[in-house]
Amino acid sequence: MQESTIRIALVGTGFMGRMHAQVYRQIGGCAVHHVLSLKGQTAEELAGKLGAEVAPDFDSILANPDIDVVDICLPTDLHAPFSIRALQAGKHVLCEKPMAIDLESADQMLAARDASGKTLMIAQCIRFWPEYVRLREIVKDGRLGNLRSLQLTRFGAFPTWSSEGWIGMEPRSGGAALDMHIHDTDFVVDLLGEPDEVISRGSVDERGVSRVFTLMRCGRTTVQLEGGWDLPSSAPFRMSFRAVFDQGLVMFDGGPLTIYRDGQAPEPVTDLPRMSAGDVGGNLSDLGGYFFEIDYFLRCIREGKPVDASSPESSRQALAVALNEIGQVHHQGAHS
Ligand SMILES: NC(=O)c1ccc[n+]([C@@H]2O[C@H](COP(=O)([O-])OP(=O)(O)OC[C@H]3O[C@@H](n4cnc5c(N)ncnc54)[C@H](O)[C@@H]3O)[C@@H](O)[C@H]2O)c1
Repeated sequence: MQESTIRIALVGTGFMGRMHAQVYRQIGGCAVHHVLSLKGQTAEELAGKLGAEVAPDFDSILANPDIDVVDICLPTDLHAPFSIRALQAGKHVLCEKPMAIDLESADQMLAARDASGKTLMIAQCIRFWPEYVRLREIVKDGRLGNLRSLQLTRFGAFPTWSSEGWIGMEPRSGGAALDMHIHDTDFVVDLLGEPDEVISRGSVDERGVSRVFTLMRCGRTTVQLEGGWDLPSSAPFRMSFRAVFDQGLVMFDGGPLTIYRDGQAPEPVTDLPRMSAGDVGGNLSDLGGYFFEIDYFLRCIREGKPVDASSPESSRQALAVALNEIGQVHHQGAHS
């Protein structure tokens, strides 16, 4: 039996919209039908590459019965209003992270999902990133014993590309902690559950929290996180982790994921799945977790299954922890 094509409207054609477009090009059984953006020119260029049409406005997407999925790659403060309208119009929704700018908006998204009976998934790409997926497997199957401590970092220069400069406005983006660092907060909350204790300090500038240092206690595991976008513009983006177990270390820091054990040679992990990028003007040659994330979302829709690997309830939980971190940094008043 031939599978029907899942038809997608891609809303937002900036950094992430182009990334998602690359992924759709590599996944079978789906097609981007419409593209919408504030900047008509970007939308036209991308639509041309995808063989899609440029939608005149969001209403036309909602009213189009041929569209199954609305993919929201918009500034963070627009995630909730656009997702809710799409769900109310009977569309499945993939929405970029962070879920929303505040918990009230996230709750409204969950309510709209429940009322519609459609699928809502927040695009928490790190949950699907091959190195982080392998770390989760090692934690869960206990092959190295208990996880004693976990350190995660994510930092780079301030992203300058955003439309209307929205990313530099804390009420729209939530600053570095909500935009960038939440990837690691989300990974920890998904892996270890809600932390028993969260202590955050950091720096604040005119764009909001620019760097956050957090210590979490999650059962018997101590977690240290660092994230920020306050590096010089020439500095590279970098994400890393170091997981110390009773019987070994799992490290990802600029090179291949590597396992270290007492008395043994380092073991680079060489069997991680990879998906190379297409040619629609994205930013990576390897699609990392983005491919596996969107592939998972589309498979759940096709098979009528819940998005258990990345439920919006768990994204809301991560948002709550990240907002707590931001609140602590502001409260401490470390203005630079
Ligand atoms: N998962 C990741 O690794 C990752 C990386 C970067 C950004 N993001 C997230 O993706 C989202 C988008 O970020 P970005 O970097 O792509 O931003 P961007 O500024 O590059 O792109 C935003 C897009 O939205 C469009 N837009 C803005 N307002 C609109 C409106 N009212 N109607 C229609 N289109 C509108 C703009 O024209 C632009 O195409 C953010 O929530 C961000 O946090 C995720």
